[in-house]
Amino acid sequence: MTKSSPTHFTYLPMSMRVLFTMVLLVFGTGYLMAMIQVWESHASRDGKAMLSAKDLMIAYSGNPEGTKLESALRGPMSDMLPADKKEVVFAWLHEGAKVEEFATKINPIMQEHCVMCHSPAVNPHLPDLSNQDGVMKVAARDEGMNIHTLVRVSHIHLFSITFIFFITGFIFTHAYIRPTWLKCVVIAAPFVVLITDVGSWYLTKVWTGFAWVVIASGAIMGLSFAFMWITSIYQLWFYKLPEDIASEEGKLPGMYR
Ligand code: HEC
Repeated sequence: MTKSSPTHFTYLPMSMRVLFTMVLLVFGTGYLMAMIQVWESHASRDGKAMLSAKDLMIAYSGNPEGTKLESALRGPMSDMLPADKKEVVFAWLHEGAKVEEFATKINPIMQEHCVMCHSPAVNPHLPDLSNQDGVMKVAARDEGMNIHTLVRVSHIHLFSITFIFFITGFIFTHAYIRPTWLKCVVIAAPFVVLITDVGSWYLTKVWTGFAWVVIASGAIMGLSFAFMWITSIYQLWFYKLPEDIASEEGKLPGMYR
């Protein structure tokens, strides 16, 4: 053999195949969890159960008709308050969040249901709902995720997803896929859409239509992951490499680009 090329799964030592399988199983579970989390934290921001472009527009660029408080109570915080009390809060917000009504109408609800988590003593990173100033901040027009949050989330996202797709892609290089360009596209796609995805989070603030790019990027990333995952697991354990590959490629059995 003159050229070194990836070896098909079949020719790898058993220990390596077990390692690849275990990594894929954990990544697969992790991917499912991540999907559930995206769903849970965004799906009902617009008041409807399905995850939609509108939900993402609200998450990133804010909601001109709404406030952070209302988006949270319709989304991730919806279980924190019984429906009748939510109506009290929504009515207050829709009537312009009058400061005079804060002490009598809103403060008792916050004290009873929210401050156990939302106070600086308990969690300094959450909006402070223990006093009037803090609540008025989230009762102001919703401007979406601020740049600080976006920068923090995007660098974590860029590093961790690159890590996941490097490993998954590396395992997948040992699969037999023809044509070769298809294999390369499947490997490259997640990295390309990772950039368009993160870029669109910022661009959605400028033009909300970019929420569709976020959705398309997520879909392509998911498809590529599923393709690599299913192919790798299948070829690791259930697939027999065609016998003519050695002669076709003019190399040792199981060796090909
Ligand atoms: C069990 C702890 C807990 C309780 C109780 C709680 N929250 Fe939260 N809240 C969180 C956490 C954690 C986050 C940040 C994660 C997230 O956005 O899902 C958060 C985020 C928020 C945000 C910010 C959302 C954003 O988009 O930045 C608002 C507003 C909010 N909560 C309002 C409330 C209100 C109003 C109540 C009371 C009805 C409440 N929360 C009760 C834990 C809690």
